Amino acid sequence: MALKEELESLREQMLPAIQDAKTTQELEDLRVSVLGRKGTLTAALRGMRDVPKEERPAVGKLVNDVRADIEGALSARGEELSNAELEAKMQAGALDVTLPGRAHPYGAQHLITHIIDEVSDIFAGLGYEVIGGREIETDYYNFTALNAPKDHPSRSMQDTFYIVDRSGDVSDVRGESDVLLRTQTSGAQVHVMEEERPPIYMISPGQVYRRDVADPSHLPQFHQIEGLVVDKGITVGDLKGTLDYFNRKFFGEDRKTRFRAHFFPFTEPSYEADVSCGICGGKGCRFCKNTGWVEILGCGMVDPNVFGFVDIDPEEYSGFAFGMGVERLACLKYDVPDLRMLLEGDMRFLRQF
Ligand code: DAH
Repeated sequence: MALKEELESLREQMLPAIQDAKTTQELEDLRVSVLGRKGTLTAALRGMRDVPKEERPAVGKLVNDVRADIEGALSARGEELSNAELEAKMQAGALDVTLPGRAHPYGAQHLITHIIDEVSDIFAGLGYEVIGGREIETDYYNFTALNAPKDHPSRSMQDTFYIVDRSGDVSDVRGESDVLLRTQTSGAQVHVMEEERPPIYMISPGQVYRRDVADPSHLPQFHQIEGLVVDKGITVGDLKGTLDYFNRKFFGEDRKTRFRAHFFPFTEPSYEADVSCGICGGKGCRFCKNTGWVEILGCGMVDPNVFGFVDIDPEEYSGFAFGMGVERLACLKYDVPDLRMLLEGDMRFLRQF
């Protein structure tokens, strides 16, 4: 009889206790205390041994009922609690979808980098290699080997940043130092012709430096793209065809190219190339100063004297070279009225490209 009562009172205690459990952990503790190896119901079962035989079926049924009631209560309360806990978690981590989002500013290529890539793509498509250059040069590469001797005006302090060894005895920087910030990318021609044998088809983009005051059409630091071709039988026709092709690819198929005789020390003959004005279509307007043309680059056939510096036989090989200003290309292509805008870092301006 004692066992029967024990079971009844266990049920009576447990059902409300289960209902009162506040957390799944509390519920689990209750489960273990009743049904675990050392649990109260488990212990009660051991008492079955002492129950007289004829009462065993009735007591056995009671045990099963009590166990079923307790298990039922545990699982019902368990479900309630885990739902509530999930709900609470969701509340705690809830997103307020009405809050304004956080902006993630993303970077983009600067217009200058973009133009360099675009020009590189056009020439890479013609089989040219794109090579790097050095911004600090000796006057040999920047001037001498480009056929500009010591007394050439482009070497003057007016044009060039010389790098002076302050510990040394270079007192007069006027041409006395032979290390300088390059004034043009043309020195890359000399390096390439020293390092490679023809055929050479290359362009070399990079920064150049001049002692200029920044104004709408000048910058003391800007970018150029140098081009060089050396091969057998290269003529002015190849130069013209290549640059005409470039202009059409870069500016548009309707654009025309013209060549005007000019002088550069390292090319003979030399030209300045113009592209037909994109604003008036060549009729003449304020932008092109009523000429219908805008200047875009310098070019010419490699002077045999330059070949002499790099040990290429001008009887066997000929070539052409060109150099264009990247900032100028950018301004012409996108109608930017002032080169300085490219350097100011004004995001309203830069984001347009
Ligand atoms: N280096 C020249 C300059 O800075 C541009 C130039 C002209 C480059 C003619 C060339 C060339 O390669 O053939 O004004």
